Amino acid sequence: MLLASPFRSLRFARAALVIGVLGACAATTALAADGTIRQWQLVKAAKGYDLALKEVAQPTPARNQVAVRVHAVSLNRRDLLMRAGNYGLGSVQEGGVPISDGAGEVIAVGPGVKRFKVGDRVAGIFFERWIDGARTADALASARGGNASGMLSEVVVGDPEGFVKIPSHLTYEEAATLPCVGVTAWDALFKRGRIEPGQFVLLEGTGGVSVMGLQLAAAAGAKPIITSSSDEKLNRARKLGTFGTVNYKTNPEWQKEVRTLTGGVGVNQVLEVGGQDTLPKALQALAFDGNIAMIGGLSGFASNVPAGQLLGLGAQVTGIYVGSRADFEALNAFIAKHKIKPIVDRVFEFKDAPAAFAAMEEGEFFGKIVIRL
Ligand SMILES: NC(=O)c1ccc[n+]([C@@H]2O[C@H](COP(=O)([O-])OP(=O)(O)OC[C@H]3O[C@@H](n4cnc5c(N)ncnc54)[C@H](OP(=O)(O)O)[C@@H]3O)[C@@H](O)[C@H]2O)c1
Repeated sequence: MLLASPFRSLRFARAALVIGVLGACAATTALAADGTIRQWQLVKAAKGYDLALKEVAQPTPARNQVAVRVHAVSLNRRDLLMRAGNYGLGSVQEGGVPISDGAGEVIAVGPGVKRFKVGDRVAGIFFERWIDGARTADALASARGGNASGMLSEVVVGDPEGFVKIPSHLTYEEAATLPCVGVTAWDALFKRGRIEPGQFVLLEGTGGVSVMGLQLAAAAGAKPIITSSSDEKLNRARKLGTFGTVNYKTNPEWQKEVRTLTGGVGVNQVLEVGGQDTLPKALQALAFDGNIAMIGGLSGFASNVPAGQLLGLGAQVTGIYVGSRADFEALNAFIAKHKIKPIVDRVFEFKDAPAAFAAMEEGEFFGKIVIRL
C-alpha cells in the first residue's frame, strides 16, 4: 500500500466527462491505468481517526462478487461519529474505509454472479447482510463504514446481494443519499408507522432524515410539518410540499404551534431525530394513537420513559435502525413511482472529502452533502 503522492498529475490529466443516463454531464475522474485506485481510510489519531488518502491495488471480484466503480457517496451524522470514535453501535477498524452510503456502476462481475451485469447502476445497502425479515446480530454487524468497509473508495468489491439497482431517474449523487436516511425514513413512515393519506407528520430540523421524510410523506398524500432553526431553510422546505413550518429557535415552545397547525388534534407520525430536547415536546404535539419513530439523538439520547404519557395517548414508539435490502427496494419502487428527487445541498470533489466532513459538522446544509468520485 502506498501513500497518496502529490505528483499525480497524470491521473488527474485524464479526468473525463461521463455522460449520465439522463444525458446530464457529471464530472468524474477516470481510474488510473496503473492498476491502482484511491480511497480514503481512517487512521488512528490522538482523538478518534484522521482521514488519509491512500493508493491501493484495484480490487478484482472473486467468485460471486461484483466490482463497483463508486461515483458518489453521501455523508451521515454517523460518519462523523465513526470518525470521532464515538459511535455506540459498531466501530471502524484502523485503515477502514469510511462512509456507509454510495452509488456507482458495476464494472466487473466474478464467476457465478447472476444478480447484476456490467453497466448496472447500483447502490450499496447499509447493512451488507440484512436482506429481508427481522434483523439479526450478524446483519447488524455488517454495517458499511463501520464494522464493514465503507464506500469512500473509487472501486469497491462485494457480494452482489449487498447492492440494489437504483431508480433510473436519479443521478448517482441523488441515489447515494438513499441507503441510510432514505431507508430509515421509509421504515419509520411506511413499515412501522403505516402512514395514511391526510395524516399529520412531524419532521424535526432539515437534515437528511427529515427532508427525505418530508418528501416521502408529501408523496404519500400526508401533511408534513417541519421545524428548523432557520427561516431560509423553512422557505426551501415549503417548495417540497410542506403543510406547515415552525422555527424552533425563535419559537422554543414550537410544539404548541405544531399542534395548532393540526387544528388541535396533534400529529399522527413523528420522525424523532432530536432526542432528549425534542422528545418531550414531540409527545406534547402527538395525536391519540400516534406513532413516534425513535431515530436519532442530535441533542443527546433521551433516557426517561414517560410511561403515563405514552399510556394516555395510546402512543406507539418504535425504534428504527435503518432497514433491510427489501426495505430499500420498496423505497426505490416508491421513489421511482413518484419521481422523487432527493435533495442534494452540496457536492464536494473526492480530493476534498475532509471539507465535506467539516461542512456536515457545521450544519449549514439542507438535506444531504455528497462527495463525487
Ligand atoms: N436510527 C437510525 O437508523 C438512524 C438513521 C439515520 C440517522 N439517524 C440519526 O438521526 C439523527 C438525524 O440524522 P440526520 O442524518 O438527519 O442528521 P443531519 O442531516 O446531520 O441533521 C442535522 C439537522 O438537524 C437539525 N437539528 C439539529 N439539532 C436539532 C435539535 N436539537 N432539534 C431539532 N432539530 C435539530 C438541524 O436542522 P436545522 O438546521 O433546520 O435547524 C440540523 O441542520 C442523528 O442523530 C443520526 O445519527 C439514525
